Amino acid sequence: MAHDIENSHFLHYNLRSIAPMVERGEGIYLYDSSGKRYIDGTSGPVVCNIGHGVKEIGEAYAAQAEKVAYVFRSHFTSEPSEKLATMIAEMAPKGLEGVFFVSSGSEGTEMAAKIAHQYYLEQDKVRKELIVSRWLSYHGITMGALSMSGHVQRRKNFVNSLLPYPKIPIPNCYRCPENSQYPACNLACAYRLKETIQMIGEEYISAFIAEPVVGAAAGAVVPPPEYYKIIREICDEFDILLIADEVMTGFGRTGLNFGMEHWDVTPDMIVFAKGASAGYYPLAGVIISEKIFDVLKNGKKGIFSPGHTYSGTPMAGAVGCSVIEYMQQHKLIDNVKNLSGYLEDRLKTLYSHTIVGDIRGKGFLWGIEFVKNQKTKEPFSAKQGGNIADLISKTAFTNGLIVYPGGGCVDGNRGDHMLVAPPFIIKKQEIDKIVSILDQSISIIEKEIS
Ligand SMILES: Cc1ncc(COP(=O)(O)O)c(C=O)c1O
Repeated sequence: MAHDIENSHFLHYNLRSIAPMVERGEGIYLYDSSGKRYIDGTSGPVVCNIGHGVKEIGEAYAAQAEKVAYVFRSHFTSEPSEKLATMIAEMAPKGLEGVFFVSSGSEGTEMAAKIAHQYYLEQDKVRKELIVSRWLSYHGITMGALSMSGHVQRRKNFVNSLLPYPKIPIPNCYRCPENSQYPACNLACAYRLKETIQMIGEEYISAFIAEPVVGAAAGAVVPPPEYYKIIREICDEFDILLIADEVMTGFGRTGLNFGMEHWDVTPDMIVFAKGASAGYYPLAGVIISEKIFDVLKNGKKGIFSPGHTYSGTPMAGAVGCSVIEYMQQHKLIDNVKNLSGYLEDRLKTLYSHTIVGDIRGKGFLWGIEFVKNQKTKEPFSAKQGGNIADLISKTAFTNGLIVYPGGGCVDGNRGDHMLVAPPFIIKKQEIDKIVSILDQSISIIEKEIS
């Protein structure tokens, strides 16, 4: 098979140069067709939580494909999707009982918005349709999901097509949106939600959506301890649903089943994707509270219609069940919990580089923000912005480490960050290797730009 950009029919990420051809994956490693080995330091885009090439998942997949791969949800239910819904409801915080399946995170966040709207339609609150979200967030690339997303660079080409969903700033203590400091700030950033609801009118707003730890748009930004309690209270005060977008943080990524548990807050809905099937099948969904479930079930028609062709298939169910069983049998979430401190300590040695401004995160989801000046936190200029993290990532890739670069963590345009989010099966020596390759790669770029 030809492996050059001129003869490829595949629309690549980079349309002018072709990526290496992957040959196989095993554990935390990927191998290309030349035999070169890479550490998957971000589990793809924070997906491959259980590592690559797990035989048990392949076996479960093959067995289900031979039995029955597909049925439409209005014709049949299936053992695997029933079992998976039960397993997910059992993993979720108490009170979250219903599970609806889709195939991607973007479909999941859009579905959550549609569920929120139907919840209010059933109560004749027909105007409650707007979703409030945050700037410097990412909820997906389809138009509805992108409308919720505050990822400035990904929104740019589509601004005229997006829905006018209101946004508040993210709670980023390294770059406080209120120009204050925690705890003297009194969590003013959380109260922006109240202000926004009051200005727009609660009768127009159905939900507030947030990533418990901001992922791709800002590089693992972790809110202060009181943040989500305040958000929960505001949502309750104005009869607005709280949606946790746990596409990245769900299924153990932060060391607990779901990220929101760190704040001891139960949302009304959780959107999940990525880690649910760890990359072995397109699987995502929404977990809804008993309260929402009851309103939908007892509603005018008792029908939830806005599904997709691939909502809740036996294949997705079988793969999802086997991934969760594998995580439980190998106590992989405990491994995240046990090694997160080690990963944090090792990553923080990178502060020795003057272009490393902030290292933040939770569990196995870490972000590094690069700055021009460590003391003043001055970012690289917009022109340089996006390049520094990219350059470091490219150097790391050459040296056999995959990380996930991003831009815009300062104001949507400026700011350079990367995510480090290894598979849950990683060992201490392998964490050391990740940090050592990052250390070398940062040194190389630091020299080049000085
Ligand atoms: C928090 C969050 N929500 C939603 C999405 C969109 O998921 P997908 O790319 O599967 O559509 C992503 C993807 O990175 C994400 O990180």
